[in-house]
Amino acid sequence: MKVLVTGSNGQLGNEMRRVATELCRGHEFIFTDIAELDITDAAAVLEAAKGVGAMVNCAAYTNVDDAEDNEDLAYRINATAAANLAAAAKAEGALLIHISTDYVFSGDSGSPYNEDSPPHPLGAYARTKLAGEQAILASGCRSVIIRSAWLYSIHGKNFVKTMLNLMASRSSLNVVFDQVGTPTYAGDLADAIGTILNTPAPAEGVYHYSNEGVCSWYDFAVAIGQLAGSPCVVSPCHSNEFPSKVTRPAFSVLDKSKIRTTFNLTIPHWHASLKRCIAMLTRQ
Ligand SMILES: NC(=O)c1ccc[n+]([C@@H]2O[C@H](COP(=O)([O-])OP(=O)(O)OC[C@H]3O[C@@H](n4cnc5c(N)ncnc54)[C@H](OP(=O)(O)O)[C@@H]3O)[C@@H](O)[C@H]2O)c1
Repeated sequence: MKVLVTGSNGQLGNEMRRVATELCRGHEFIFTDIAELDITDAAAVLEAAKGVGAMVNCAAYTNVDDAEDNEDLAYRINATAAANLAAAAKAEGALLIHISTDYVFSGDSGSPYNEDSPPHPLGAYARTKLAGEQAILASGCRSVIIRSAWLYSIHGKNFVKTMLNLMASRSSLNVVFDQVGTPTYAGDLADAIGTILNTPAPAEGVYHYSNEGVCSWYDFAVAIGQLAGSPCVVSPCHSNEFPSKVTRPAFSVLDKSKIRTTFNLTIPHWHASLKRCIAMLTRQ
């Protein structure tokens, strides 16, 4: 099967390049990023999708803070372009695998969100991501929408790399302990997508995927420091000590039961995957 990957220079896209050579050697991959295929260009998307059996959309406007001032652009990339991909998938009879976010939820739940939990986005990024999901579902194309959370990898910008850089130059750091969720190693999410691509006629719908377990950003930072052997002292603080235009969900733990059972996945615990990623980043 021919598989078109969009946004393939990002964190997840880079991990899809690895999956293509490991888990999914039976498929032919076409990797694109904005220079080869701008997904906001509907005609170009239709053309690029000709003959494909599946599309994996790793492209997105992902800057949560900047989206507050650029909601139109974020909407064009996260929602209108998702509709472009859906229209092309429908025209080809292809499966569209699209990534969404835990931020579609308000975060006022006390138990993990499942796929039927009502979304309630708190900010511009989350609104545009939810609109993207809705456009895909309304299109009637074959789709798998995976909401993920707190993505990090050896590629691009992410919390793990930011913490390692700060820890290298500072003796102490404050990190918020009042936002709780689950990190996701982009390599694990890409492996799950590879499994779905290898599944004949995969069950369509919305799924949740993060690593297993629960932590606050503070717990995550402490683990990063410990695994990297950093002497930097990490202290817990409240979110209001870091004023932001965006209110982030205080609790965004995702229930992964559906994707685990549907695709028979073994999902690693966040700490085990973090250990692997830190080893790669610090070449331990
Ligand atoms: N990062 C997170 O913490 C997180 C959490 C939950 C869900 N997600 C979702 O997971 C998915 C993958 O995230 P990620 O962290 O891998 O994203 P990323 O690293 O920001 O990569 C996104 C890629 O898309 C490209 N892109 C932007 N606009 C485009 C366009 N019009 N056409 C084609 N490509 C375009 C970007 O290029 P430029 O860099 O040049 O803009 C970048 O290479 C996204 O759907 C995101 O919303 C992310």
